[in-house]
Amino acid sequence: MQDRTVFITGATSGIGRETARQLAARGFRIILACRDLDKAEKVMQEIEEQTENPHLQSVHLDLAVFRSVPVCVSTTLQAYGIPDIIINNAGVFNNSRVETVDGLEQTMSVNYYGPFLLTMLFIPELKAAAKPVRIINVSSKAALYAALDIDNLSFKRRYHSFKAYGASKLALLYFTRELSKRLLDTQIVVNAAHPGRVNTNIWDIQPNLIATVMRKLSLTPEEGARTSVYLSSSPDVAEVTGKFFYQQQVIPYNARSSDQQLQNDLWNHSLQVVKQWLP
Ligand SMILES: NC(=O)c1ccc[n+]([C@@H]2O[C@H](COP(=O)([O-])OP(=O)(O)OC[C@H]3O[C@@H](n4cnc5c(N)ncnc54)[C@H](OP(=O)(O)O)[C@@H]3O)[C@@H](O)[C@H]2O)c1
Repeated sequence: MQDRTVFITGATSGIGRETARQLAARGFRIILACRDLDKAEKVMQEIEEQTENPHLQSVHLDLAVFRSVPVCVSTTLQAYGIPDIIINNAGVFNNSRVETVDGLEQTMSVNYYGPFLLTMLFIPELKAAAKPVRIINVSSKAALYAALDIDNLSFKRRYHSFKAYGASKLALLYFTRELSKRLLDTQIVVNAAHPGRVNTNIWDIQPNLIATVMRKLSLTPEEGARTSVYLSSSPDVAEVTGKFFYQQQVIPYNARSSDQQLQNDLWNHSLQVVKQWLP
């Protein structure tokens, strides 16, 4: 697989680090797109020691700062070429509303608008390369119970941590479905992943009792990485697009994630939000 390159966000901990490790063990070249390059360096050393795969690189990316995204994409393309697999894995869960430098709510920015912008910036190059490419958006089953109010995606009114997180993950499902439709005449497939409930740093900000219980009831990061690894590497899903997976099974979309009008509105809204950063 050394001729195939994986670009993965949020690989400095949890599910992303483990996904990078498992894919490195299978011989993929890995680009870790991270906001903390010192952390990335340590993770790359660990992965190289564990897998004996030296083909690991890092590139700076802060999904909470839009201006960082085009720089990351152009640096990646110039230094490492066009990726074969893009895994939008990075994500946050915040207890209170934090506003980004772009004036957006941070959960929505890191989990959705940032990956939207990043992917849209890669698309022209991916299309021009005319090669098989897989895009994987790490969402969550929480999306199936979430709601999206297109007029309040910055949560200036009625902020609630679970609502913001759920909305960001539902937005990723709509993005997966809409982008996959728009790319049907290409070799690019786009799918969403639910990793399961996984024992990672994402639980750190919960009150101690909840964090302890959640961690006990959770999968290990090794297990949590399975869906992303499957979607990245299995020949079974080389031509599958627009689906939502947990491990090797398709999770059916429900009524909330199948609202075509909302899907279209979100696409147009997202283009407006990031338009300053698109060519
Ligand atoms: N754990 C679960 O139970 C669960 C369930 C469903 C879905 N998920 C999803 O799985 C994905 C991975 O989460 P995890 O559980 O592995 O959590 P995690 O251990 O907290 O990892 C999150 C990763 O995202 C990165 N990140 C955070 N903010 C960023 C930013 N502004 N720019 C770039 N990268 C940023 C973090 O970087 P730093 O190391 O610099 O902080 C870290 O590498 C997320 O999308 C999450 O929503 C997790």
